[in-house]
Amino acid sequence: SAGSGHHRHEQHGAHHQTGTGTVEVAALTGDISAPADVKFELVAQQEKIPLASGAVIDAWTYNGEIAPELRVKHGDMVEVKLINKDIDSGVTIHWHGYNVPNAMDGVPGMTQNVVKPGQSFTYKFRAEQEGTYWFHSHQQASEQVVKGLFGTLIVESKQDAETFDEQFTVINHRWMTSQGYKHAFGKEDGWQTKQVKPGKKVKLRIINTHKLSQKYLLQGTDFRIMSIDGMRIQDPQPLSDQTALRLGSGGRYDVTFTMPDRPVLFKLGDYKNTSNPGIIFYTETPPEEPIFKAESAEFDPSDYGNPVTNDVTAAKKFDREFQMILGNEMGFYNGTFHFLWTINGEVYPRVPTFFVKEGDSVKTTFVNKSLTEHPMHLHGHHMTVLKKNGEKVKTPWLTDTLNVLPGESYEVAFVADNPGMWMDHCHNLDHAATGMILHLMYD
Ligand code: C2O
Ligand code: CU
Repeated sequence: SAGSGHHRHEQHGAHHQTGTGTVEVAALTGDISAPADVKFELVAQQEKIPLASGAVIDAWTYNGEIAPELRVKHGDMVEVKLINKDIDSGVTIHWHGYNVPNAMDGVPGMTQNVVKPGQSFTYKFRAEQEGTYWFHSHQQASEQVVKGLFGTLIVESKQDAETFDEQFTVINHRWMTSQGYKHAFGKEDGWQTKQVKPGKKVKLRIINTHKLSQKYLLQGTDFRIMSIDGMRIQDPQPLSDQTALRLGSGGRYDVTFTMPDRPVLFKLGDYKNTSNPGIIFYTETPPEEPIFKAESAEFDPSDYGNPVTNDVTAAKKFDREFQMILGNEMGFYNGTFHFLWTINGEVYPRVPTFFVKEGDSVKTTFVNKSLTEHPMHLHGHHMTVLKKNGEKVKTPWLTDTLNVLPGESYEVAFVADNPGMWMDHCHNLDHAATGMILHLMYD
């Protein structure tokens, strides 16, 4: 099945009314009549940004920065004005993992028009989910996100302020620089040091904005995973420091530890890889050279903490059951011959849409029959993971971006409680650009 060569922004969403049902406009914008508690302005602009090593990125940014942070309080009415200064292909903001009303979702040609140079668009929504999120442009995302059009959305809970003495956000991205490809945590493409007093409670918010999953090590202390994709784990148990973390593209882990009286080391990649960025947390003087032990296991979110219980974990049957077979084949897309990434044997926009009604409980089974991993991201909803490779998971858990490895299958479910037209796509944005996108539509 060859691609039809359509551009996604030519798809004008019929999301106001479809079929027999009608969706109220308020359901698509949310109730945004209240005045904003916090206002931000984000200017999409080109900028040359030096990393710590001196390597320079020709970046496309919001506000000329790498990953500007929007930090708000749980419950705030948030207003963000996006202005495009000089990104010719136009930009938007998609709030990754944030279950905003459909009109605020930032998908050009579907929920809004693309914002061209000289134009602006104002997003407004209530910060109803606490936790670690990020945002990025959804226009030609395989180019724009790679070049830097992203930032972080941190929604603080009261508990955060009371429980943690130190909070660090680690944004792992891979950049094309004047010295070739480099991974960096923010601007730090080498090792950085941070002094923390023993006994202090530390929270690391790890965000993987790269298109592939990444491994991380945290050694020198036991630690806990407090949240996955912004969703709180109930009763997280301490993990040994030989547990490696693997974070899919677009995913977030909130990791916590109590600073011991010796250094704590955090790095990207396995213990042998020394060229990746890392952080040394030290109490008095930083060690000369960070030395890692071999990792012995990989963290498994399907067996951690207490199981999530909600409407879909309790469901005996589902109102809708869908399957997404993830595949690959060679073919034409937009006039060129290359790998196509397919869902149910088709490439976007020919992948058949999933239709749901508001209130439906919806089960989706992902089956990866292709050669590579696919971080499957559903807009506007969190998915509860129920089964892996046909077996019930020990601890159902919540995610917005589920990394599905070759040969794996997952059963996930959610309640259709956010009306509109949503994307469900691979967050390896190259795969999305060559077919791996599906629409979920309320009728
Ligand atoms: Cu983070 Cu549709 O993307
Ligand atoms: Cu993919």
